[in-house]
Amino acid sequence: MAPTPYVHPAVDSTAVFKSDLFKGKVLFCTGGGSGICKAMTEAVMRHGASATIVGRNVDRLTQSAQELSKATGQECLAVQADVRHFNQLRDAVARAIERFGTIDFVICGAAGNFLAPINGLSVNGFKTVIEIDTIGTYNTIKATLQHIRASKGSYIHVSATLHYRGTPYQVHVSAAKAAVDATSAVLAVEEGPHGIRSNVIAPGPIGGTEGMDRLSPKGDAQQVVYPRLPAGRLGDVKDIANMTVFLFSDAANFVTGQVIAVDGGHEHLRGPSLPYPESVLDPNAVKHMIKPRL
Ligand code: COA
Repeated sequence: MAPTPYVHPAVDSTAVFKSDLFKGKVLFCTGGGSGICKAMTEAVMRHGASATIVGRNVDRLTQSAQELSKATGQECLAVQADVRHFNQLRDAVARAIERFGTIDFVICGAAGNFLAPINGLSVNGFKTVIEIDTIGTYNTIKATLQHIRASKGSYIHVSATLHYRGTPYQVHVSAAKAAVDATSAVLAVEEGPHGIRSNVIAPGPIGGTEGMDRLSPKGDAQQVVYPRLPAGRLGDVKDIANMTVFLFSDAANFVTGQVIAVDGGHEHLRGPSLPYPESVLDPNAVKHMIKPRL
């Protein structure tokens, strides 16, 4: 019988970090109504922070805010805004300040994606994703910066690992996320002396998310990705949430301008010529495939 890989489970952040870590802190999160960003928001709230979540779909947003409050016992304000429009974001920030008085943490998470080849993607399709991901990130920074300067706070941008290589059908997102990574680096350098940190989380394949659903070729990501991850499983939104809690905490005070892949080692697994993970779990199983020494 072939040996099975060891798999570390995804854990709740409260199992590792202090429950009152973010007591009295305030989060502002774009894209917080669903998926990865909702889980990031929930984790920060579980450690005592209040939050404002921003998105386009007001029904989903309102429901998510209620769920987040119920799950964490903290206040969550839902504000409708499209990150492509600066004025809407500026108004959303004003609502958050009116309610909470400050903003300590910002998650730039709103994103758009679908699979399309360069040849089949319309000019407007490309532009739309650039507008949501890249310009939306800039707009969010611009709308929140004075408050983050005042609180000596911190930014996390949600990016991807797709653009580290030429990922087919992802030209729009690859271009957009490369720009997000660059924007964060400049923010870290320009605003570091004002007490601001800025980092990027680059999620790998995370199960059960809208992004994975949209990008999964057969709608069955577990089948497609699972055997090719060194961590032995798909990512869980909790894995991204835990990195979020760490990066916003004082334990990360010397970490800024970084892009941190939370991907179960996916990025370092370059097209293995031998079956994976069998070849590392049981070298004997692949001995017959390796050329004898000359
Ligand atoms: N394949 C190719 N082109 C597509 C597409 C697809 N699956 N979906 C949308 N487009 C194109 C549209 O055809 C349009 O271009 P056109 O005017 O030349 O026809 C352009 O993209 C804008 O589409 P539209 O539906 O008008 O934009 P929208 O603002 O309503 O939606 C999207 C934005 C397209 C990014 C949409 O997928 C979305 O809202 N996504 C948010 C959620 C999400 O993607 N989450 C996952 C994050 S990883």
